[in-house]
Amino acid sequence: PIKRLTVPAIKAMKGTVPIVCLTAYTAPVARIVDEVTDLILVGDSVGMVLYGTDTTIGVSVEMMCAHGQAVVRASQRSCVVVDMPFGSYQKSPQQAFKTAVRILKATGAAAVKLEGGEEMADTVNFLTHRGVPVCGHVGLMPQSVQVMGGFKVTGRDRETAEKVCRDATAIAEAGAFAIVLEGVIEPVAAEITAQIAIPTIGIGASSACDGQVLVSDDIFGLFEGFKPKFVKRYAHIAEEMREAARQYAEEVRRREFPDQNHVFTPKT
Ligand code: KIV
Ligand code: NA
Repeated sequence: PIKRLTVPAIKAMKGTVPIVCLTAYTAPVARIVDEVTDLILVGDSVGMVLYGTDTTIGVSVEMMCAHGQAVVRASQRSCVVVDMPFGSYQKSPQQAFKTAVRILKATGAAAVKLEGGEEMADTVNFLTHRGVPVCGHVGLMPQSVQVMGGFKVTGRDRETAEKVCRDATAIAEAGAFAIVLEGVIEPVAAEITAQIAIPTIGIGASSACDGQVLVSDDIFGLFEGFKPKFVKRYAHIAEEMREAARQYAEEVRRREFPDQNHVFTPKT
């Protein structure tokens, strides 16, 4: 049996080798990415990627539990982290603890992730002192899109640069084992990475981070809805799927499929 990377093992990777992280929401994708990842994130981006919503606001704890279960079952070596969805943890440390325990028990994941800076530090401290490993997420926080007025890059002016530094420091000092930096300009991501004792995992935050994360459907070219600047498509799977579906439809309409190789015949 292959040993799974633990939360302390991920934390200890800071300053050694880059941490490789991808999202997964389903068993088949988890099985594939697990061969190369250190960390698999069951992100609340599941709402936008699999359910076709415009934001992550509508994602439920039930959805995170279902997808988290599938990913833990189908992976062996990566540390699995599950997002806590909007509204399930912001009210109080107690609410966050209850949700985190529900997610960890239902899925068998190693840790939860939550969005927020200084205002969430008490919650991170509460959880980490009660057996719940937490990954932070600062900078562009998709669950706050309705307050921010869109998906915006952070750190371009002094005010937002100082704010994201304070946020990352607060979450690190509160006991998070790692922190996602999303949509942060390179010099600010570099400064945060140098300043804090835990690994930074960047998405649109430059190679200065201790690790990288992307949505797997984005790198596969499976999600075609939109492509942020920071996404690199390493394949064009949606095009292959479209062509496969087209060929199947054509063969069915011509009665070429099923042929003799794909049909049951009587015993002779
Ligand atoms: O939901 C998600 O997929 C995420 C990342 C991409 C960091 O939070
Ligand atoms: Na997320």
